[in-house]
Amino acid sequence: MAQAQAIPLTRHAFADGSFKKMLIDGKWVAAASGKHFESRNPATGELLATVAEGDAEDINRAVTAARKAFEGPWSKFKPFERQLVLLKLADLVERHFDELSSLDTLDMGAPISRTRGTRQRVLGMLRWYAGQATSIHGETIPNSLPGEIFSYTLKEPVGVVGAIIPWNGPLGASIWKVGPALATGCTVILKPAEEAPLASLRLGELALEAGVPPGVVNVVPGYGETAGAALAAHPGVDKVAFTGSHLTGQSIVKASAGNLKRVSLELGGKSPDIVFADADMDAAVPGAAMAVFANSGQICSAGTRMFVEQKVYDEFTDRVAAFGKGLRVGNGLDPETQIGPLVSEQQLERVTGYLSLGKQEGARLAGGGGRPAHLNRGYFIEPTVFANVDNRSTIAQEEIFGPVLSVIPADGEEAAIQIANDTVYGLNNSVFTNDIDRAYRTARRLLRASFLYLPAVLALLLLNPLPA
Ligand code: NAI
Ligand code: MG
Repeated sequence: MAQAQAIPLTRHAFADGSFKKMLIDGKWVAAASGKHFESRNPATGELLATVAEGDAEDINRAVTAARKAFEGPWSKFKPFERQLVLLKLADLVERHFDELSSLDTLDMGAPISRTRGTRQRVLGMLRWYAGQATSIHGETIPNSLPGEIFSYTLKEPVGVVGAIIPWNGPLGASIWKVGPALATGCTVILKPAEEAPLASLRLGELALEAGVPPGVVNVVPGYGETAGAALAAHPGVDKVAFTGSHLTGQSIVKASAGNLKRVSLELGGKSPDIVFADADMDAAVPGAAMAVFANSGQICSAGTRMFVEQKVYDEFTDRVAAFGKGLRVGNGLDPETQIGPLVSEQQLERVTGYLSLGKQEGARLAGGGGRPAHLNRGYFIEPTVFANVDNRSTIAQEEIFGPVLSVIPADGEEAAIQIANDTVYGLNNSVFTNDIDRAYRTARRLLRASFLYLPAVLALLLLNPLPA
């Protein structure tokens, strides 16, 4: 059926609707089961590719290949040689950056301004990892044992790494898993999210072109419960590096117990923004709004709970709602778009479920709250602001992963800190004030009281300039 299209920009060499195989042992192969799944553009529903659907048997094959490469050719690579491979990969990513970033926009919907905007970060990361290949080293240790005994530590690669990533920034997430593995001399099996596997597959092609030996980088797309779970439980995998939801993180910890794998987890949040009445509203409004609306709220550190002092509560809520209303929601390929669609129909259902729940729970809808009227297809949601939210309600406690903000009144430092810390999550926080002492004091106490779902807690301190 022909459909009128405002934006004709959908042809992409890698997303031309064709069948994409998986990368195992340097070769592109179909799934052992012969199964495949579809990858669609969440802005239009258009088919981008059918993708080989890996499961336990493909993971077995990839682990065998990764082990062989780890013990074989890759172990002979000197640090300078691994560095060179990473620098070549960085050059290739740079050359193909526009293609890779538009692939992310097509596959998961983020605005092209956002995906193109990651250029420096992505390339900088890869080149930083290249530097790490020659920089990580052990120590010499004085000892008091009798006789002449020399003690030292050697840093050795962990071995075969299973890397499991989500869909909210596929290119960047692929690089920050594959980069460290290559820098340290590990081999890796990358399992991209089923919602957006294309940039990871393309990165696999570029890794081969950069001279990564067969089996060092394997890319096995597939579902979490099958391919992901098989990777997390596999006795031949030495470490799992995971980014995604805390529930999946918990199941990965359990699955990894069989051979006591090393596990690193980068999980979710329900991050507080505290807005004190003295804050510069012109800076705080866009700051707080984009902390939750960027990437349609699909960011681990999204500032989804906003605590505002009574004195400015109504004004601030209205201004953030108006800011959200003014954002251009649409197809990510349009350079003017500021907010793209959610990644999938499932995610749309999840988020609309929370919108209904917010209304049931008695919150006041101050802006948004539904699907944009001007978009008749795609998984779009308006930037939404709920006011007078109870911090114990579901919308204020669960990670929604959509452009949905809960504004909660809180007066004074002590009350704001207590209520902001009343959550099981602890990932990120922002403080808006013109009082620098209060900013540091508040941020520190938010950190200390946070329940750590993440090993490293990041404080994002947004300070407005001090008045002259
Ligand atoms: P998810 O955590 O289930 O998926 C992330 C990755 O884990 C995907 O590659 C998936 O295939 C894999 N996976 C799923 N189940 C697995 C298992 N049992 N063993 C091994 N790997 C498994 O997240 P999902 O389902 O995509 O999104 C659900 C919710 O999770 C979102 O609405 C959001 O709240 C949260 N989430 C948070 C992220 C963050 O960065 N904080 C990223 C993705 C999701
Ligand atoms: Mg899932």
